[in-house]
Amino acid sequence: MRTHYCGQLRPEHIGETVTLCGWVDRRRDHGGVIFLDLRDRSGIAQIVSDPERTPDSYETAGDLRNEYVVKITGRVTRRPEESLNSRLATGEVEVYADQIELLNAVRKQLPFQVSAAETESVREDLRLKYRYLDLRRERMSRNLQLRHEIIKTMRRFLEDEGQFIEIETPMLTRSTPEGARDYLVPSRVNPGEFYALPQSPQLFKQILMVAGFDRYYQLARCFRDEDLRADRQPEFTQLDLEMSFMTQDELIDLNERLVCYLFKHVKGVDIPRPFPRLSYAEAMDRYGSDKPDTRFGLELVDVSDLMKDSGFKVFSGAIAAGGIVKILPIPDGNDAISNVRIKPGGDLFKEATEAGAKGLAYIRVREDGEIDTIGAIKDNLTDAQKQELLARTNAKPGHLLLFGAGDTGTVNKTLDRLRQVLGRELGLIDPNKINLLWVLDFPMFEWNPDEKRLEPLHHPFTSPRPEDLSDVKTARALAHDLVFNGFEVAGGSMRIYQPELQQQVFELIGLTPEDAHNKFGFLLEAFEYGTPPHGGIAYGLDRWVMLLAGEESIRDAIAFPKTQQARCLMTNAPSSVDNKQLKELHISTVSKPKP
Ligand code: AMO
Repeated sequence: MRTHYCGQLRPEHIGETVTLCGWVDRRRDHGGVIFLDLRDRSGIAQIVSDPERTPDSYETAGDLRNEYVVKITGRVTRRPEESLNSRLATGEVEVYADQIELLNAVRKQLPFQVSAAETESVREDLRLKYRYLDLRRERMSRNLQLRHEIIKTMRRFLEDEGQFIEIETPMLTRSTPEGARDYLVPSRVNPGEFYALPQSPQLFKQILMVAGFDRYYQLARCFRDEDLRADRQPEFTQLDLEMSFMTQDELIDLNERLVCYLFKHVKGVDIPRPFPRLSYAEAMDRYGSDKPDTRFGLELVDVSDLMKDSGFKVFSGAIAAGGIVKILPIPDGNDAISNVRIKPGGDLFKEATEAGAKGLAYIRVREDGEIDTIGAIKDNLTDAQKQELLARTNAKPGHLLLFGAGDTGTVNKTLDRLRQVLGRELGLIDPNKINLLWVLDFPMFEWNPDEKRLEPLHHPFTSPRPEDLSDVKTARALAHDLVFNGFEVAGGSMRIYQPELQQQVFELIGLTPEDAHNKFGFLLEAFEYGTPPHGGIAYGLDRWVMLLAGEESIRDAIAFPKTQQARCLMTNAPSSVDNKQLKELHISTVSKPKP
């Protein structure tokens, strides 16, 4: 039907007759001459029709409205000097339309303007409800084409340079151990029994290593019923890898090459290798986060040892209770941040309390080097403590020091949050900077205070570091997370391949041999038949697209995403179903569906 995509036209096509198909982005009537912006997924071409030069198309051109679907045949000409448009790839040319065929009209009022020329922002619920219109718009069209490029590039590297093979694993399966709630699917033919949709292909990919496939990959859809955030979806895509007979360093090296290949092909940038590495302990200490954004400084300073004997009870008390006191030092923070923002009711105070802090103490360093504090801190510091505090935080006149005091987790969470808010607000983040780093040496377990038991930080198949084997409970894990500008964009580990060690880990997390057998018996049995040492990693594809597209929400990286309430506004899923269907599935529900 057509000879070119709209966005392809260039001066080299001048003189050619072309046929284009697409949507009318907008129509302008300039005193008898009609201009159309014709859009398809590649971009926009300007179409011209006037009664003298193109009498056959003029009448149809006049009847066209936004988003009508048309086929246009005409001659490519150079635009007159005054209408050259350097912002448009096709801005040097236009097409005189000999024929315009209306392929389809718009029959309803558009819920929002699709045109690239419209700058008005559209409510997200409307965008999601009429997603097909939203996807026509330049931004989403560009994001999805970028997504495709990323997938294509990753596949190319894995297949051509890495000898990986793609193997699909089931969607209807058993619960997998990634720690979120499962989405369940009732089995009609096995009354009362359920499949779980995979939270990841973890167990299958390990079994594929036992099966000898050596290097596996998959673009795997994963399902996790967890609280949603700007970078989380209930249904998301991983680029999932597993490989045998590789050390962790070899695995990291291969993945760095994959990431560099991706940046080179998709963004045209060279990323130096090797990427920096941080241990979990160091990341938590310096940034309060296991996925620190290291594009900017504002590093945290632990002053627990200094404050443990201070007369200020909030600090000494926190330390006595097993917690810590840390400082977020902000150079020139005195000018930028007023007391109103730090005190109760202020936005920074609110950030801190939302992260779990009980309050937000501060010190300001005045021009004469004296300090000002909220409440009683100052009166309870000795001169020596004060001097040491300023020296450790490298504080100069103008510095604002924000304090976190309490249990380690809350202090880190609070100061990490404030650090990110202020890094952004104070313009310390260069948006063009690409910051990639590995976080390694995670602890194997963390304490779950609600369930009063140890929980694996990654999943229970992650291997402890060999040098820590004497006490697996406190061991560091052979786990590796990749962090890109403060987002966890991939995570994985070397696996346990010795059944005895696996047993020990199950015991530590409170799984009895029967529980372990019930949940993962097939894997444990497979491990008895000759398991190679293996390890893997999974990339959060949607997060990569979001970040490389410069978007702030993962929803802008996915064609048909869910809302924060895990709903699809276009299809209106989830929905209630017929009683007949429920009956067949041997299900009865205790909730009344929403009207
Ligand atoms: P993990 O749980 O760390 O590891 O997941 C891997 C990566 O997937 C992305 N991700 C998500 N993206 C969008 N929405 C979500 N709800 C979501 N959850 C995770 C993140 C994360 O780094 N089986 C292991 C991998 C392994 O050990 O090989 C796993 O799934 O970018």
